[in-house]
Amino acid sequence: MCGIVGYVGSNLAYPVLIDGLKKLEYRGYDSAGVALHTGNSIEVYKKEGKVSALEGSVYGKNIQATIGIGHTRWATHGEPSDRNAHPHSSNSGDIAMIHNGIIENYAQLKNELLQKGYTFKSDTDSEVLVNFIEDIKINNECSLEEAVRIALKRVVGAYVILLLDKDLPDTIIAARKGSPLVIGIGDNAHYLGSDASPMLAYTKEVVYINDYELAIVRPDELVLKNLGNERITPFVQKLDIELASIEKGGFDHFMLKEIFEQPQTIFDSLRGRMDAEQQSITLSGVDKIADKLLKANRVIIVACGTSWHAGLLAEYVIEELCRINVEVEYASEFRYRNPIITDQDVIIAISQSGETADTLVALENAKKQGATIFGLVNVVGSSIARIADAGAYTHAGPEIGVASTKAFTAQLAVLYLIALKVAQLKGTIEATLFNKLLADLAKVPEHVKEILEDQDAIIQEIARKYSDARDFLYLGRGYNFPIALEGALKLKEVSYIHAEGYPAAEMKHGPIALVDDQLPVVFVATKDSYHEKIISNIQEIKARKGKVIAVVSHGDEVAADLADDVMFVPQVHEIIAPILSVIPLQLLSYHIGVNRGLDVDKPRNLAKSVTVE
Ligand code: G6P
Repeated sequence: MCGIVGYVGSNLAYPVLIDGLKKLEYRGYDSAGVALHTGNSIEVYKKEGKVSALEGSVYGKNIQATIGIGHTRWATHGEPSDRNAHPHSSNSGDIAMIHNGIIENYAQLKNELLQKGYTFKSDTDSEVLVNFIEDIKINNECSLEEAVRIALKRVVGAYVILLLDKDLPDTIIAARKGSPLVIGIGDNAHYLGSDASPMLAYTKEVVYINDYELAIVRPDELVLKNLGNERITPFVQKLDIELASIEKGGFDHFMLKEIFEQPQTIFDSLRGRMDAEQQSITLSGVDKIADKLLKANRVIIVACGTSWHAGLLAEYVIEELCRINVEVEYASEFRYRNPIITDQDVIIAISQSGETADTLVALENAKKQGATIFGLVNVVGSSIARIADAGAYTHAGPEIGVASTKAFTAQLAVLYLIALKVAQLKGTIEATLFNKLLADLAKVPEHVKEILEDQDAIIQEIARKYSDARDFLYLGRGYNFPIALEGALKLKEVSYIHAEGYPAAEMKHGPIALVDDQLPVVFVATKDSYHEKIISNIQEIKARKGKVIAVVSHGDEVAADLADDVMFVPQVHEIIAPILSVIPLQLLSYHIGVNRGLDVDKPRNLAKSVTVE
């Protein structure tokens, strides 16, 4: 996590950096800071809190610099404070550095530096690295570039670093391993960022920097080298994101905008990939590894957070339709245990950002053991997209709200297509079911629009009733169980109310002890093969005076009559139903978060892109 920006050109750097940091705030907002080279010296400004706090503290200062670096922090080493904010300066004050990542052997490096008389103002691993680089520069009497190269050979961990040197008034030195770095090419200017959003207003031409690459960036020159000091030709790519897609467009929050974008984003995920009339699905990524998929021992889905919930639903759907054994793994667990992986396994990695450190490393490990990697990723050109053998983009567009909404439904849409395509290739699905599912999938964008139009006002009312609750329970069965988990996660993230998701029947083995007349229990109870069972579960909660809020299918009087509050969704095949049932739950979380006066776009302690393990 942490967002990094840089600018070197002929315009004033400060406004470009601040604007860029605001676009990257989703990556962390514990503190923000900038370092600017004024020609004679490096000036550093930093402040605990969001970028607006930094702006307030710098207000009125006339910073004449056309080169600078900026950072928005998600704290790892050291509490959020001015002292621990980036940029960090070396002991001489000649070098300023920002860092996204973790230096794992910082303690050892720090000891060595302490013995040499270095002092530290912060608790961060980053301040250790900038001094380590300075020490090498002084001892070897070498350039900053050379010192960075030598230092990084000893560094264990993940990083993107951007450095300014007092002796280099027109140069930013940057390097990457494990954390993302994009460089935009402007008119006699270069822009650096953790993703492309800070540079979208200025250029569409970008270079994605790879691990173990070092960039020497001047207004009119971008030199790329590997750590062996050999030059690499930059591969320039064209962005196809529009600036409007990363702005709020009249909505109060990005989260609400992104929830309301879903009819379009789901449509975009499906567009060009399915033809309900021709009963066909085109997914070139699946074609590319079709032989592996058809012969696969098993499919292992690796993901974190909301993406893991999409994976859990995919397990149910792929096993049902394709009769392939599927396992769903938390990336952080998968990478550290010793899983049995063979070249007969296909790994599907699901990630909105494509940068989640645990997911990325889990894939690297699996790849070394011969597995085939399929990436289902939203951010084009991201690290996971690049290491995968094949893949499919979700096409949800930039997601800024930290709590994932539109990326989740886009993941589901593409996972349905993947399952249907593989089932068709394998011959494990009847034509009638294939056609029914494809037809229902085609109608999803329209149904989501209907839910948003008809239910939002009702859900606002429900949210008002329950905004002061202390705990929530979310229950679902079968295909709707992952949605219960996702509903609970969404509420936790944006309202800070404790919420648990459970399989509806499993609730009897513990959570039922929590039920009293104060506990709201959300049932995801659309009409499906287990419907009577979940009606019994609702009865069990009612018998204990719990408050029942239910997501039910249009026309389902029984469930609607039982519940205290109801959110309706159109009825579709039970396999497709989850992509609709999650929409009311997203709205419920959003409205409760807003009622509680919270910053739903940037919930405390969270970050959108978790690039540390
Ligand atoms: C963070 C985000 C979640 C996201 C998860 C996985 O926790 O706040 O919204 O689901 O990371 O991220 P990924 O980018 O890999 O989907």
